[in-house]
Amino acid sequence: MPLSTSTIARDRLILAVDTADIKEARRYLDELHAHVGVFKIGLQLFTHYGPEILKIFQSAGAKIFLDCKFLDIPNTVAKAAEAAAAHGVEMFTIHACGGTEMLMAASQSVNAFAQKEGVPPPTILAVTVLTSISPDTLRNELSVGLDMKDQVIKLARQCKDSGITGLVASPEEVKALRSELGKDMVIVTPGVRPAWADTNDQKRFTTPAQAIKNGSDYLVVGRPITGAKEPRSAAQQIVEEMQSALDE
Ligand code: C5P
Repeated sequence: MPLSTSTIARDRLILAVDTADIKEARRYLDELHAHVGVFKIGLQLFTHYGPEILKIFQSAGAKIFLDCKFLDIPNTVAKAAEAAAAHGVEMFTIHACGGTEMLMAASQSVNAFAQKEGVPPPTILAVTVLTSISPDTLRNELSVGLDMKDQVIKLARQCKDSGITGLVASPEEVKALRSELGKDMVIVTPGVRPAWADTNDQKRFTTPAQAIKNGSDYLVVGRPITGAKEPRSAAQQIVEEMQSALDE
């Protein structure tokens, strides 16, 4: 059963492993493996350690979200996507703005790989507009004529039509995306803050329960867990809150 249809909240909690320190990464793995469903490994850790870091997590039985946001010509992205599939990651990211030819090339290459190997394909998660891009930057630097919401939805539709099965979406975007695109896209949401946690630098966030109610399949959480005095109990509290929302 794909994790995104699991009714067990823990399966849908993704820990952001945001560190360049391999000892710290191993500590998160040891302490939190029983409490989260997936570990997100991003550009920082992957650029430091390469596929070795994936092996460390996978040899402990952990599932991986590789967050390296591929963006290049279709052939290069297709090859990188196949390599991600060959590493056995559960999901990985790609930029939606690379065009439908690139999106289709990525989707076709993971599907072909999965068929050849007789394994399920990883979920490709498209990033529509980075949350670090403001409406002003979108309009004046990137010269996009649509407003933010319309641009996000337009790119998300292109992704779906190109065979991409998932999206990374900010908490504000989830409801609109879910109603525009239906139930079958996997939606992953960062910017999650339980009421008891520090908001850090997140400006737009929702609680775990609200994110689930809005239609997110997976929540990405970092510092509320990794920065807590007791990371296991922080993860457990988040899972309980997610579970109550799922059970409603
Ligand atoms: O520590 P925190 O819970 O804020 O971590 C959130 C994670 O999600 C980080 O890895 C961050 O880079 C990532 N992320 C985000 N907002 C986005 C996209 C990714 O916070 N729009």
